[in-house]
Amino acid sequence: MQFNEPAGTNLFDSATIVGKDHTRIDGPLKVTGAAPYAYERHDVVEGQLYGYPVGATIGHGTITAMDTEAAKAAPGVRAVVTTLDIDPLELGMNNVARLFGGSEVMHYHQAIAVVVADSFEQARAAANLITVSYEEGEAVDYSLDAAFERMEGTGEPDTQYGDMEAAFSDGAVTIDQMYHTPGESHQMMEPFASIVDWSDGGDLTGWISNQMINWTHGSLATTLGINKERVRIESPYVGGGFGGKLWLRADTVLAALGSRAAGAPVKLALPRPMMMNNATHRSATVQRIRLAANPDGSLRGISHENVSYCLPGGRGENATAQTPLFYASEAMHVKNHLAEMPLPETADMRAPGEAAGLMALEIAMDEMAEALEMDPVAFRLANDTQVTPSNPDMPFSERHFAECLEQGAEAFGWDSSRPAPGSRREGDWLIGQGVAGAFRGALALPSGARAAIENGKLVIETDMTDIGTGSYTILAQTAAETMSLTMDDVEMRLGNSAYPVSSGSGGQFGAVSSSTGVYAACMALREKIAQQLGLEEATFADGQVGSGNERQSFLELDVEAVDSIQWGDFMGEFQKATFGAHFVEVGVNVYTGETRVRRMLAVCDAGRIINPVTARSQVIGGMVMGVGAALSEDMALDTGRGMFANHDLASYEVAVHADIPEQEVIFLDTLDDVASPLKAKGVGELGLCGVAAAVANAVYNATGIRLREYPLTLDLML
Ligand code: MOS
Repeated sequence: MQFNEPAGTNLFDSATIVGKDHTRIDGPLKVTGAAPYAYERHDVVEGQLYGYPVGATIGHGTITAMDTEAAKAAPGVRAVVTTLDIDPLELGMNNVARLFGGSEVMHYHQAIAVVVADSFEQARAAANLITVSYEEGEAVDYSLDAAFERMEGTGEPDTQYGDMEAAFSDGAVTIDQMYHTPGESHQMMEPFASIVDWSDGGDLTGWISNQMINWTHGSLATTLGINKERVRIESPYVGGGFGGKLWLRADTVLAALGSRAAGAPVKLALPRPMMMNNATHRSATVQRIRLAANPDGSLRGISHENVSYCLPGGRGENATAQTPLFYASEAMHVKNHLAEMPLPETADMRAPGEAAGLMALEIAMDEMAEALEMDPVAFRLANDTQVTPSNPDMPFSERHFAECLEQGAEAFGWDSSRPAPGSRREGDWLIGQGVAGAFRGALALPSGARAAIENGKLVIETDMTDIGTGSYTILAQTAAETMSLTMDDVEMRLGNSAYPVSSGSGGQFGAVSSSTGVYAACMALREKIAQQLGLEEATFADGQVGSGNERQSFLELDVEAVDSIQWGDFMGEFQKATFGAHFVEVGVNVYTGETRVRRMLAVCDAGRIINPVTARSQVIGGMVMGVGAALSEDMALDTGRGMFANHDLASYEVAVHADIPEQEVIFLDTLDDVASPLKAKGVGELGLCGVAAAVANAVYNATGIRLREYPLTLDLML
């Protein structure tokens, strides 16, 4: 697509910094330990005390009494605040479970007390002395299968077009299967952690670990019932979030309440054993997918129903998110159901919707290819489309899914006449290959920044966060490119509520939105510089500004500009999304049933890649996460007590890079004018989408065993 580009946006087409590899500018700080996470910020405020949380030990019900006498008398204890001491706190943005206050327990490990002491050990020891009496809520049927049976076919469809009955009759090739994905926990490296100074109950400062400064800033003010102007939060370095740190969580609230009670700053980290049930997670899903196709491979009908659980008012996991947007089909029926259950809060986890949905849909596509006796790559190509399946009047701004499949097949050495399932063996290992398509939406949010020349540097301030993704680096690249400076001329300041509001880091919209905001602020700064120098028609090149032959440096000026922008003019005219293809080779041990991933390839169509080296890092991280989703991650629900029983990284197993000997990523580096002035789209979640299904399809090709339930553990294989 070509549009009349607003002035300046074509500067990225001749870019020398944007679109090129640049190692992380914060890398040296990270590897030398000089980029502190929230809990490590020992020097930001003096006299820090230690907080330790107490979580409820029932699934749901009411607290009838709490005895804190022993805790209060324990050595070093400065304050104990229980949930019975205060009224229920207001809910922050997107919180559906109350974070603190009142006697109601909505989920296991809901925070019910905080103990503040001189040392961490004293706080923890005293917390163990608190005794709690409960009245437990009524028994609950936590079966998601039963919920699916109850809800299937009910309610208005989310998407419905064409004649589904006709699609599934008259010689159609059909499949009809149930798929299960488990609850998944973010389990980021850095746990939820905060230092909060609310010593006098007046102005509050929080040094926290969070993805979305603006949302959390507002939520903290709402929750504590204070004016937002009195609250300042900082989150300059974050050790991973995956969606778990999008919202205000209990660690910050407990540190604040503890600080007010003790009259001193308090630091508090959520202990790893509380992360499963206190924090949010991705809901399990039960999905039924029915496909009907003509013998030539074109899809006639897609029916996809999903159920996930959530607390009242919550969102669960919409595993049907991609289905109305991915494959062409003559008829379609899509419905997402929510089953309310008193379980820990469900909310966004990396690629919410698509991550779980493609785990099912892309197995179904593999099954249909087999039923049609077609190569699974060819089958997907046969159902590619350039327009929204349910709305032919809405084309995709850019969609290069076919190139992803074709280039991937070529680069991976995909053999379209693969050996029959279970027929390739090397020693004790059965070898198989699998493919899956990837789809993830390409949202953009308003984003702002301040650009200024200060002390000979271009300073960029925005409340955007870097959750390990490379924001510092890509925003410095954007600023340097727009101002025609070098990376060394730029100083980045991120993650502070005192800076202009950005998109924050979420929904793979962070890079595309915040780079747009920095671009806008820099364009505004260019105007200010031209004004200050009395230049008309100023051009910026090689670190200088000028008009005609008169050129000069501008780094000695004192000038600033603030701007915010939403690049959304084309919304409603175009469907924006990112696409990919994942290829995986696995070995399955013939004696133990253990699966080992041997090599993986991802091909991504996600607009201009602002920085290939940091984007690649995002994608291979997503691929590792997809292997975890395929083979090991599983929140084990105790259906008697309504809690997740695995409480640590020994019992909730995540994959690591060392599990996968070979990973490759190819970026098509397409340009998308609709997506942003940089013609970029996000890629951080695309890398996860479809991976687990590619693993499942490879396991099938290796063994001939078709698994439709994750994780693909060895007990299911034998
Ligand atoms: Mo993402 S799940 O919006 O961090």
